[in-house]
This record gives sequence, structure tokens and C-alpha cells, in this order.
Amino acid sequence: MNPHERLRLPLVEADLLRLETLLAESVIFGDEYLDSVTTHLIYAGGKRLRPMLAVASATGGSRPASQDDLLGGVALELMHLASLYHDDVMDEADVRRNVDSVNARYGNLIAIVAGDYLMARSAAIAADLGAEAAGLLARTLAWLTRGQVSEIRTAYSVERTEANYFEAIEGKTASLMASSCHMGALTAGLARVETEALTEFGRCFGMVYQLRDDILDVIAVDNELGKPAGQDLAEGIYNLPTLFALRDPSGGDELRAILGEALNDAERERARKLVVATDGVAQTIAAAQSFLSLAHESLADVSSEPLRQGFASLIELLLEDLPKY
Ligand code: IPE
Ligand code: IPE
Ligand code: MG
Ligand code: MG
Repeated sequence: MNPHERLRLPLVEADLLRLETLLAESVIFGDEYLDSVTTHLIYAGGKRLRPMLAVASATGGSRPASQDDLLGGVALELMHLASLYHDDVMDEADVRRNVDSVNARYGNLIAIVAGDYLMARSAAIAADLGAEAAGLLARTLAWLTRGQVSEIRTAYSVERTEANYFEAIEGKTASLMASSCHMGALTAGLARVETEALTEFGRCFGMVYQLRDDILDVIAVDNELGKPAGQDLAEGIYNLPTLFALRDPSGGDELRAILGEALNDAERERARKLVVATDGVAQTIAAAQSFLSLAHESLADVSSEPLRQGFASLIELLLEDLPKY
């Protein structure tokens, strides 16, 4: 998946190159050890989706980004990075962006405080952009945290509701994507209707993005996400395909009997196969398609024609490469 090719906005790509320098500079403190921890995942890569959404929303691809547009994107990427530092501690993940996770390399304690440090840097940059940007970042962090807490609270629960699932992914993933578009609208001073349209696009993009991630967790064999297939199942995070599968008249009861506790490799694979055998994945794709439709509707109020096309193509990519798995 290459999201940057889909956007087809050359000016945005040039902006994102300039943003890389600002991003690395924004976390460097001058202490060799701290700097190695805080730049670890920045140098490891990542798709920079949130800065891309922010900068594209700000400029529409029709002018170079201003310094504030770039800093808005940096603030969102830093908040995302911080959430990855913390998420990998919570999920006990060893690999992130194809390198050791921060917790695996430096330990949980350092990963937690380094994540806090990245959040502080994000907040400071947002504060320099003005009260509205600072408030947006603070509200986003509250949403994100609520989503993560809600997911933890329902871990290993086969009674988890679909409503709980949607609320959790809206918080942990879609809120950051929505705020990325919102930040771009803010630094560019766009009018309210367009700001709301872009924010709604970002929210839908985030929903489809996480639905895709959760589908890949059950259907991928050689997982492009760099983690073993069925990891969420093994760790008690019952995503939408699993919730649908639990309600399936044929495989649901057997699945219910396996789930509810931590799984070994054989149980994880059995559970994963049971989910795949139901139409849980197809129903999840249908749910993602409804957010795709909402995203298309929201684009009607976006004034830049190239941006409308770029965003439409970007979000479609998320679902069109799924069947190859
Ligand atoms: C990972 O986000 C977390 C999820 C929302 C699934 P990305 O897939 O955007 O991660 P990077 O930034 O490219 O590493
Ligand atoms: C994604 O969480 C959202 C955040 C990191 C806040 P996940 O735990 O579902 O994402 P991956 O699969 O580790 O990237
Ligand atoms: Mg997680
Ligand atoms: Mg995780």
C-alpha cells in the first residue's frame, strides 16, 4: 500500500520532505541517550499519514505549505508517535515500523516516559500555533485515551458489543486522523463548512483505516503490518470480525469456547480460522464501506478539486487491496 502515490499532489510530497527535518528537530534535546530514544521510531520510517492529511487539508495541493501548516502536521505526528510508544507497552509488542519497539529496546519504563516527552513536545508546538490548535490537540488526546481505556476494559470479553468496538476505534484511531485534517484547516484559516467537511473525512478515513487493520489481523498470513496474524485474538482484543463471528450460528459457539482467555499459538490459529470461516470479515468490509460512503459525502464540501480526487482515491485504496489476502 502506498498512500502517497494515491494522493497525487506533488506539492504535498515536497512539503512532507521539508516536514521531516522539522519533525526530527522537534524532539532533539541535546542529550545523546534521550535523543536516541525519542528519534528511534522517527528514523525507522512510518507512512506519515497524519502529516499528509494535515498538509493536504491545509493547502489543497495548490500552494506550498506555510511553516504553521508544517508544524501542525508535526504536532499530530508527535502525538501519534507518543501513542505508539504507549500502545506497544500496553500490547507488549516487540516490533514497530519493522524495527525493535521502544519498549523492546529500552524497556517499558523508558518507553512510557519517552512517550510522555513526545506528547509534551506535541503540546508545546500546538500551543505555539495558538489556543485553538492547543485545545484541539488536548481534546484529541482525551479521545485517544478514552478509546484505549475502553479497549482494555473489554479485553477477553466475548460480550463486547459492536457499539463498544466502534467507540473504541473512533477514539484510538479516527480521532487523530480527524484532528489531522482539522489542524490543516485551522492553520490555513479555512471557513467553517470546509473545516467540518475535512474533519469528517479524516474521521471516516480513520474508521476505515482501523477496520482494515482489524481485518488484516484475521486474514493476513504474512501480515503486512509486521506482526503475527491473529495477535489481537490471542491478546483478547475482540475486533469487529470476531464480534460478528461470535454471533454466527455455525462457528460462534466453538469460537466462544476458545476465547475468553490468553491463547497459545495453536488456539490462536484455530480461533483465527473459525473467524475467517464465518462471514465476519465480509460484514466488517460492509461496515467499512458505509464509512467510505460517508467520506465521499463529506468531500462534496471540499473546494479543491485535486484534493477531493486525491482524498477519494486515498480512502478507496484502503479497501481495494484487501481481497488479495
Ligand atoms: C498505526 O498507524 C496505528 C493504527 C492506527 C493502526 P499507522 O499505520 O499510520 O502507522 P505508521 O505511522 O505508518 O507507522
Ligand atoms: C492503534 O492501536 C491505535 C493506537 C496506537 C493508539 P492498535 O494496537 O490496534 O495498533 P497496532 O496494530 O499496534 O498498530
Ligand atoms: Mg493497541
Ligand atoms: Mg498495538
